[in-house]
Amino acid sequence: MDSSQGVLERIRTRQARIGVIGLGYVGLPLAVEFARHGFDVTGFDVDNVKTAQINAGESYIPDVPEADLRAVVASGRLRASSDMSKLADMDAIDICVPTPLRKTRDPDLSYVVLAVEAVAASLRRGQLIILESTTYPGTTEEVVQPMLEAKGLKPDIDFLLAFSPERVDPGNQQYTTKNIPKIIGGVGPASTEAACALYGAAVDRVVPVSSTRVAEMVKLLENTFRAVNIGLVNEIALMCHKMDIGVWEVIDAAKTKPFGFMPFYPGPGLGGHCIPIDPFYLSWKARQNGFECRFIELAGHINSSMPHYVVERVGDALNCVRKSINGSRIHLFGVAYKRDVNDMRESPALDILELLSKRGARLSYSDPFVPELRHHDQVLSSIEVRQVLQEAPDCGVICTDHSVFDYDAIVGSGLLVVDTRNALKGRDAPTIFRL
Ligand SMILES: NC(=O)c1ccc[n+]([C@@H]2O[C@H](COP(=O)([O-])OP(=O)(O)OC[C@H]3O[C@@H](n4cnc5c(N)ncnc54)[C@H](O)[C@@H]3O)[C@@H](O)[C@H]2O)c1
Repeated sequence: MDSSQGVLERIRTRQARIGVIGLGYVGLPLAVEFARHGFDVTGFDVDNVKTAQINAGESYIPDVPEADLRAVVASGRLRASSDMSKLADMDAIDICVPTPLRKTRDPDLSYVVLAVEAVAASLRRGQLIILESTTYPGTTEEVVQPMLEAKGLKPDIDFLLAFSPERVDPGNQQYTTKNIPKIIGGVGPASTEAACALYGAAVDRVVPVSSTRVAEMVKLLENTFRAVNIGLVNEIALMCHKMDIGVWEVIDAAKTKPFGFMPFYPGPGLGGHCIPIDPFYLSWKARQNGFECRFIELAGHINSSMPHYVVERVGDALNCVRKSINGSRIHLFGVAYKRDVNDMRESPALDILELLSKRGARLSYSDPFVPELRHHDQVLSSIEVRQVLQEAPDCGVICTDHSVFDYDAIVGSGLLVVDTRNALKGRDAPTIFRL
């Protein structure tokens, strides 16, 4: 039996031991899903707090219900460890570590490299290695494969290697790890087949593609599509403001077209670990190949200007009551990067906070998902909306449209409010300033 047959058989019989490296928003749901489908799963993370929480059955990712985590931990099918030497026991290893940008906006693959070094240290015949972290086309073949080959084993023959981009959308109740189709591209046919068998055992649909580069590019096309369309609609919002047209009404009407239009919404700027970052992985790689990605750069320019525009709207709102940003008490409703999640990464609220603070505002915030927020050497604590309304700040800014906020109470209090998300849709008052 060759090495791929061995792993295929172990997957089919659920004997395959699966390792997931990086137990964050992507890795933890994946590890739980594999365990729920009968596999023996070990999650690996350098963060000992996370591994301890998992072993205690405590979920720190909102999309992973604690009951599900507790069930797979109690049944002995999932455990977490920071002991990378245990990777040697795994039949399949999924790498789900961060892929941020450096300050220079170049890809930072240091987490991937560290994880692959750990895998390479104990690589053995028959192991299936899958990279899930979002990255530029070529990473699997140009970075990961040589590190593993250096152990003297041949890809697609002695060990199997694939790229399968994670497409999870935190907070989305309808589409989860289980029912989002999984794109899979191996370094050769045996790798693709094994990776398809593995995911096919836990997710509803797998979509094999011809190479790792195609799989890497699929993810970047998807995220660039979002970044560019959000950039376009943000520009339309700025334009509509100049022309005194309500952009939200325009979008609502446009989306009644049953074909050829897909609604995107303006907002205070991009946030999260994907959309503000991934397109720059692509433009970096394209530049290496002598190609300039103009759409990506332009969308990045417009999207990153949105927090400045929000601050301008706050200035407009305060001006109407003869106040200035300097010295005013300004309250942010929501600081997470999107509705009903606790993820603060790249959140535009942080830029808005910084810009307002530089202009002399006295700031506070409410976010039920983010109890504390560090701003320079200060730690701010989230305040209950009820208390905020009693204290009556000079202006409120809805940065994140969490569904638990009492928007009727916010409007009813007469607070001057800048709404960056159309959270106050259908409500009308002279105190509301829309994006
Ligand atoms: N969050 C999302 O919505 C999302 C969606 C699709 C794709 N992705 C991609 O998935 C990847 C992971 O993102 P995430 O949001 O899960 O990140 P995250 O920061 O939530 O989790 C990453 C985890 O990896 C751990 N880690 C870092 N280096 C490690 C190492 N060398 N060994 C072991 N553990 C290590 C960290 O401690 C952390 O717990 C990124 O490439 C991201 O772009 C994220």
